[in-house]
Amino acid sequence: MELSHTMRAVEITEPGGPDVLKPCTRPVPVPGHGQIVIRVAYAGVNRPDALQRAGSYAPPANASPLPGLEASGTVVEIGPGVTRYSIGDKVCALLPGGGYAEYVTTPEAHALPIPEGLSMREAACLPETCFTVWSNVAMRGGLKAGERFLVHGGSSGIGTTAIQIAKALGARVFTTAGSDEKCAACEALGAEKALNYRSGDFVAMMHDEGGAHLILDMVGGGYLPRNVKALATEGRLVQIAFLQGPRVELNFAEVMMRRLTITGSTLRPQSDLAKARIAAEVEAHVWPMIAAGKFRPVMDSEFPLEQAAAAHARMESSGHVGKIVLKVE
Ligand SMILES: NC(=O)c1ccc[n+]([C@@H]2O[C@H](COP(=O)([O-])OP(=O)(O)OC[C@H]3O[C@@H](n4cnc5c(N)ncnc54)[C@H](OP(=O)(O)O)[C@@H]3O)[C@@H](O)[C@H]2O)c1
Repeated sequence: MELSHTMRAVEITEPGGPDVLKPCTRPVPVPGHGQIVIRVAYAGVNRPDALQRAGSYAPPANASPLPGLEASGTVVEIGPGVTRYSIGDKVCALLPGGGYAEYVTTPEAHALPIPEGLSMREAACLPETCFTVWSNVAMRGGLKAGERFLVHGGSSGIGTTAIQIAKALGARVFTTAGSDEKCAACEALGAEKALNYRSGDFVAMMHDEGGAHLILDMVGGGYLPRNVKALATEGRLVQIAFLQGPRVELNFAEVMMRRLTITGSTLRPQSDLAKARIAAEVEAHVWPMIAAGKFRPVMDSEFPLEQAAAAHARMESSGHVGKIVLKVE
């Protein structure tokens, strides 16, 4: 198929608020060794896109400067060395950047088939959150059936994914969110208890249960010492963001005396090989959860590509529950 040489995209014109996202025209990307070009149907919107837009999360070297970490669509071109996918295959993929565009390139090892029973719209929302949740909750956090799991921000894209995956793993799931309506949505998804953090204390909630074996946290700041208190002996805390800032005073004697583990990770700067390993695990463990009806992305809203600024404004209003997508095709 003959591709046009230019495409519609949305760029970050300068660091700032949602309005710095503007439609633009860019050359269609050319696939390198082991890479595929996807004609994007839908692109997922994630909080790290907003951090990049604001100038506090630079893309890695060699990544597209355009925002967008995940998409679904059709393979329209393959680079040398591609073995799994052919032109015409429908995929969803983790991207190094560039998802807010008609075409995007990514290593084929970071693409997965569209799960049976899911639309392209839903599939666009899977890679960034599933890779992040699986790698931090299962691979790094080692969550096991029967353990008590606490995820903060339960109504977020990450939170709604973590609740369902942890539940499917057989864990007891607890969460926090910023309103009673969001808490009700989290409990409908499978959380045993969702606490409105504006009126309740999650440390007390977890103490009543015997402490958390694993906490997935995106809040940081004052949550760090409280998370330590909420952990059971030998508990693990996995940090994936710091919405309230990364600096805090912490008494590490508690970590030592109760043999706690504090760790964390970010997905984007990891090597292609590390992301390919996560992709293989996600396909082996999360895709069957989707097939079994145990996990489905929670969809909040859809915006046309050209209205990416409105999509970011919605995400930053924190009025959403679940995922926001851009319709590109
Ligand atoms: N490490 C990684 O590789 C990685 C990858 C992807 C995302 N992330 C991070 O994960 C987080 C979620 O990402 P997302 O795309 O799912 O974004 P999102 O849907 O916008 O989620 C952000 C959530 O944070 C919640 N929140 C803010 N302050 C809170 C508090 N004090 N207590 C509890 N919840 C609080 C908000 O809920 P309320 O309105 O209820 O407060 C909101 O739902 C972001 O911080 C993002 O940067 C990290």
